[in-house]
Amino acid sequence: AGCGSNSSASGSSKGGKVTLGFSQLGAESQWRTANTKSVQSAAKKNKKINMKFSDAQQKQENQISAIRNFIQQGVDVIAVAPVVETGWETVLKEAKDANIPVILVDRMIKGKNVDDLYSAWIGSDFTKEGRKAGDWLATYMKKQNKASEKLNIAYLQGTTGASAQVGRTKGFAEVAKTHSNWDIIEKQSGNFTREEGKEVMEAFMKSSGDKINVLVSENDDMTMGAIQAIQEAGKTPGKDITIISFDATNDGLQAILDGKMNADIECNPMSGNDVMKTAIALKEGKKVQKKVYVHESLFDIDNAKKNMPRPY
Ligand code: AHR
Repeated sequence: AGCGSNSSASGSSKGGKVTLGFSQLGAESQWRTANTKSVQSAAKKNKKINMKFSDAQQKQENQISAIRNFIQQGVDVIAVAPVVETGWETVLKEAKDANIPVILVDRMIKGKNVDDLYSAWIGSDFTKEGRKAGDWLATYMKKQNKASEKLNIAYLQGTTGASAQVGRTKGFAEVAKTHSNWDIIEKQSGNFTREEGKEVMEAFMKSSGDKINVLVSENDDMTMGAIQAIQEAGKTPGKDITIISFDATNDGLQAILDGKMNADIECNPMSGNDVMKTAIALKEGKKVQKKVYVHESLFDIDNAKKNMPRPY
């Protein structure tokens, strides 16, 4: 379901192919790999699209130079999955001055007047995802008649300043605030990677392993690392520690079936076709929806099995 206002692009169709420059932020997670594949295969299948791809390896400065290169090459449309929310004004103003419409993919940007600097955004409602995690936990405790039990929550964050991190942290905190018996006792970034997820969870277990009874982890890769750290610390993931994760990868749902994870909030990476359609519409000067939210659901032991295998 989408919502938001409309905007129209400058320029008109010249009948040829649409050259699309896509700056992907990196390859930090299974989700990201699926998102890249979705965009690349949609571009390949679409006869109207000629795509140039650039991987920024998680560095904003690489994304900024990729966008500048696209501007210099005179591409028709630029798509960017922004690694962090802030710091985009200058380069996006350059794209605007060159009359090149910009599509934001997956994550959002923020700053002064940034809404004028992109034509469309296709991605997830991260704050809603965070709220879903909190609401799921409240219902889960209630179902076990443990609604008033003291929860000592360890919280693994994604890349600091990424809208996926900011939104999920905010949404979960909103729900946590309404429960006086929920305490977030550990909170740190694991940068959305499996290795750092494991490292940070090891540190959490060292300092508070005897207390932690809930883990919220902002993506499945970090969660897989954290599960290993919990096991190595002699605890049982999914039982001693209730685990809520984000993305809903195949590994995530398998961990639910194995009893090692309790809930997985879906983040949908399959935006490739929407990106292509939007790029073509912008090149043709058509009106496009300014904000498109991808469809997302939630998985736990009640529905994991019937939704496997997952496409990523
Ligand atoms: O922006 C989406 C997030 O980025 C996904 O949750 C995570 O796996 C990815 O790295």
